[in-house]
Amino acid sequence: MTRPKVFVARRIPESGLNAMAAHCDLDVWPEQLPPAPDELRRRVADCSGLVSLLTDRVDAALLEAAPKLKVVSNFAVGFNNIDVPACTARGVRVGNTPGVLTDATADIAVSLLLAAARRLPDSAADAKAGHWLTWEPLGWMGQDLVGRTLGIVGMGRIGFATAKRLHGGWGMKVLYTARAAKPDADRDLGARRVELDELLAQSDYVSVHADLNPTTKGLFGAAQFAQMKRSAVFVNTSRGPLVDQTALAAALRNGTIFAAGLDVTDPEPLVPSHELYGLPNCLIVPHIASATPDTRNAMARLCANNLIAGVKGEPLPHCVNPV
Ligand code: DGY
Repeated sequence: MTRPKVFVARRIPESGLNAMAAHCDLDVWPEQLPPAPDELRRRVADCSGLVSLLTDRVDAALLEAAPKLKVVSNFAVGFNNIDVPACTARGVRVGNTPGVLTDATADIAVSLLLAAARRLPDSAADAKAGHWLTWEPLGWMGQDLVGRTLGIVGMGRIGFATAKRLHGGWGMKVLYTARAAKPDADRDLGARRVELDELLAQSDYVSVHADLNPTTKGLFGAAQFAQMKRSAVFVNTSRGPLVDQTALAAALRNGTIFAAGLDVTDPEPLVPSHELYGLPNCLIVPHIASATPDTRNAMARLCANNLIAGVKGEPLPHCVNPV
């Protein structure tokens, strides 16, 4: 029997590659940088499966070039890089990796929040540069955390895990926005679902966990930052395009808000000359939220399970468009 052909758009952990190789003939892209769109189209031309990353655009043109494609298995929980309706229209199933990166991502959201609130990056850089002259009674003032109010924008799994850490560890009060009420959050964290306006006005910390879609693109602009407290810390571990970065830079520069911690930007990578890098109250890390061995291995296994089921024509364990 011929084995299904699969293009894997980057090296992922061996656990996933080995599982797929037991069922499929794999063509693994060996480079550090993603294949260019025309190369991607060429590679998938006779494939029944594709393992994509968030940096690989899966659109109608790619699907057109891959008539045998049955499954796109995204090595990520987010799938905004994929035109899901176009996949659905062609009967191509799309898989993702929910659940396994919840804790790692929540850990980074909390890390960014703490580091930005207590000015770790700029104070550390200052010390290293030799400017630490003495213990300063009025120097390096940050923000307190205990008992403050946390606003979670998007109370899904990762939003909940972030709120649980900050409610449990620092006794933060939790406000949230979500498409529907979240009884677990209300019961376990004493959380309260509110409109975004109220969340922005009341919160000392705003942490973004909403997915990127046409309704959330540009959700945070000048008007939203103006609604926040001057002492507020803004954290984004979801997707960069939710934020108008020019507006964020202005808000940070003008003291409209206190600080920001970003795991995601638009675009990625952000050019080193970008104004956000020049702001001492803006901490940017390169989309590392799921970067732990256990998490990436678990993502690889889920990704492989989705891929294998898809090439066999079976239901995917985690499918965003069951068809
Ligand atoms: C995801 O999975 O969507 C993250 O952004 C990358 O791990």
